[in-house]
Formats: sequence, C-alpha cells, structure tokens
Amino acid sequence: MNHRPWPYPRFVAHRGGGKLAPENTLAAFRVGASYGYRMFECDIKLAQDGVPFLLHDDTLARTSSGTGVAGHLTWNALSRLDAGAWHSRLFTGEPIPTMEAVSQFCIRNHYALNIELKPTQMKGEAQSVADAMARRTGEVVAKRAQQLWSETQIKPLLSSFKPASLKGAQAAAPELPRGLLLDEWWDGWLDCAIDLDCAIVTCDYQLWNAKTVSLVKANNFRLGSYTVNDATEVKRLLDLGIDCIYTDRIDLFSPAE
Ligand code: G3P
Ligand code: MG
Repeated sequence: MNHRPWPYPRFVAHRGGGKLAPENTLAAFRVGASYGYRMFECDIKLAQDGVPFLLHDDTLARTSSGTGVAGHLTWNALSRLDAGAWHSRLFTGEPIPTMEAVSQFCIRNHYALNIELKPTQMKGEAQSVADAMARRTGEVVAKRAQQLWSETQIKPLLSSFKPASLKGAQAAAPELPRGLLLDEWWDGWLDCAIDLDCAIVTCDYQLWNAKTVSLVKANNFRLGSYTVNDATEVKRLLDLGIDCIYTDRIDLFSPAE
C-alpha cells in the first residue's frame, strides 16, 4: 500500500497535446486542455545561459526553424525561433516556451505538470561531462520549479531517464516529487529509485506485466506508463493497476476515465 500523496490524474497529455499540435509548445497545452486533459508532460532542458525551456531533442532541426544544438544557444536566440510551422500552417509562429511560461499557464488554470528533465547530451562526450550536465539540469530546473510553484498545493512531478538529473533535483528541491523513467530494467534500477526517494516508476508500457507490477508496488512506488496510444493496451495497463498513462492520443482517451 502506497501512502504517499498522489494528487495527479490517471491520463497525461504527452508533450502537451500529443501529435495534434507542435510538441512542447503552449499551443499543444491548449489543445490538450481542449480535450479535457488536466495534466501535461513536457521535456525541459537548459539554454546556454541557464534558462529552462521546452524541447525534446538535443537539436533544433526537427521541431523548430533553428539548427544545431539547442542548449548551445542563449534563451534570447531560442526565443526568436518558430516551433510551430514544422507541424502545420495553423501553428506558424508558435514560439518555444520557457518553463516559466508553462508554469504560469498551468498554475492559472489549475493544471498539473510533469516536467521531464531532458539534459542536453552530446554524442561522444565523456560520461563525466554528460553526468555533470544532467545533474546541473536537475538542480536548476528543480530550484526554479520550487520558486514558480511555491504557492500551489499540487507540485510539479519531476521525472527523468537520467539518475544524475534526479539526484540534482533531489538536492535542490527535495520536496518536489520525483519519477524514474525506464526504457529497460537496467541493473540497479530499484536501488536507484529507492535512493532517489522516487514517488513513481514510469516505464515503456511493454515492460509492465503482473510480475513487474507487483515488484514495483511492493516497493511502494506509483506506476506510470509511456507512451500508450492503443486502446487495448490502455485497458491491459489499467487492469494491471497502472496509476498514470502518458498518451499522444488525446482524441482517443477521455482523461476522466
Ligand atoms: O515522460 C515519458 C516520456 O515523455 C518519455 O519519452 O522520449 O517522449 O520524452 P520521450
Ligand atoms: Mg518526455
């Protein structure tokens, strides 16, 4: 039995609005909200001058008018890019948002947020350099999130595939809930989740079965599953007792379920 407070809804709009709007933009959050979603996931990394902003990839090309490594640009440069036109004409001119802009949107509308700490990681860099960036991202984002959400009862959930990011978040703002993301059951994941005092373990949905569910439940974690876009799979996961489902198919699943 898990006694940690868990104030979050079961369905979470992945990257704001799934695929119906440009991911990780405020337009996506608005589209997600228009389908009744009350919790959103987004990916956050640091600009060169330390400003936390929303972007999934390390590089800009796929989801913006920019090129190169996003984290090598200042926020001033990033703020001029178009993060909507790549998706469709309707969203032309949509900017990359800062974490602050998203926090204001969520707080004003009483929406919950899951911030995925997504540190810039460069191919070929030394592990120590990658870990340092991961840790710094966790520290900076958590500290800023703590300030931005200081007046709200429901805090943002901070999650990451990178233990170093969660370690940084834990050091900077221990009271903000944390979630370990897993794309496989790597050696040591359970001790890692325990050490990080995580509230939730969130896996690729294919990793959940009766055995893995009971192991994670026995260790008092909530259970999350990304990114689930198929109705049969959602039913299987709900039957297994998964607490949190991240989906792109905001048009298919009612968040009230
Ligand atoms: O937080 C769950 C999910 O967003 C993890 O995968 O690559 O979509 O950020 P990704
Ligand atoms: Mg993500």
